[in-house]
Amino acid sequence: MIKLNNLLINKDKSCTPIWFMRQAGRYLPEFRNIRKNNKDFIKLCLNSKLSSEITLQPIRRYDLDAAIIFSDILMIPFALGQSVEFKKNFGPILSSFEINKFKKQNIKDFSRKLSPVYKAISKTRNKLEKSKSLICFVGAPWTLIVYMFALKKNGNKINFNKMLDKNLDIEFVLKKLIKYSIIHIDNQIKAGADTVQIFDSWAGLIPNNYLKKFCYKPNQEIVRHCKKKKIPVICFPKGINKNYVKFNNLVRPDGLSLDYKVNPTWAKNNLKNVCLQGGLDPKFLLKKDSHLIPAVIKYLKIFENFPYIFNLGHGVLPKTSPKTIKKVVNLVKSYNGNKK
Ligand code: CP3
Repeated sequence: MIKLNNLLINKDKSCTPIWFMRQAGRYLPEFRNIRKNNKDFIKLCLNSKLSSEITLQPIRRYDLDAAIIFSDILMIPFALGQSVEFKKNFGPILSSFEINKFKKQNIKDFSRKLSPVYKAISKTRNKLEKSKSLICFVGAPWTLIVYMFALKKNGNKINFNKMLDKNLDIEFVLKKLIKYSIIHIDNQIKAGADTVQIFDSWAGLIPNNYLKKFCYKPNQEIVRHCKKKKIPVICFPKGINKNYVKFNNLVRPDGLSLDYKVNPTWAKNNLKNVCLQGGLDPKFLLKKDSHLIPAVIKYLKIFENFPYIFNLGHGVLPKTSPKTIKKVVNLVKSYNGNKK
């Protein structure tokens, strides 16, 4: 069985697999080289040959246990009719949301538009060692909505009322996003991915009284589908603090990825019947060894007798040195060796 899935499904505790969120991309010179000649990011995600190549770049350098397909959560809004552009040092810009256009999009066109992603998954699976996982992903509906309606103001604040004030049928939008996320997951699994991660990167911006509607419920529906189909599923409801407990009890994913603000000992004691992942602040990978090494060991020790996948509390930062990634991989692998 693929190592990652043995933890997610069988809750195996005998090893600690390792992969990194955003392992394919920004910090790697070989990625930047490709990016330099491919200015249109969406086009790059739709280039099966290059996106498969980028997916494999970190696997060639490091002994990681999983590859994550090079794509983006914004491919769903793109395939549902919005244009997506990435402005340097600013982030994604989407064309304004048009409900009529959104309503018109159908499954056939959606799957056709994203077919290069599925082709990239098949290509990658063929080249990847059998024991390694190939992770696919979706953005959770709320996190997609943040971008689709440009809800983010300066810094990490949102304009929540902007969405409620709009005379739009938010129930319809949520429902369609859940449905199409499930279709995108099924297509990716059919193409050869074996695990899915649901990124709810902006869950922490949802007011408490709306968490159920915008975070727990949509994640729950997607997880239910995955579990019914026996697709191992990891959730990442970033920023919801102690509500990780409620999230876990309601959504019941196979794996739960911790963000860097969650206390790992608290997580171990309070999050039950789930494989935990990640947690380490990505900023530690910018620090000296004397800070980095004890921080890595801390997570390994805390989760010693627990089903745990090593990862970070958010994506690898662009300034991270590729050498540091190697150091962390080797440290986790040698710790694994000592454990047996
Ligand atoms: O993890 C991986 O290596 C796989 C590829 C991947 C990308 N985006 C490639 C990418 C994954 C899993 C994502 C998910 C994603 N995309 C999330 C959830 C994870 C998170 O970081 O919270 C979000 C919120 C997005 C939306 C997005 N895409 C933003 C805000 C940006 C711009 C800022 C940034 O992160 O660079 C992107 C662009 C993006 N997606 C890049 C990469 C490699 C950088 C593109 C570039 O070279 O300019």
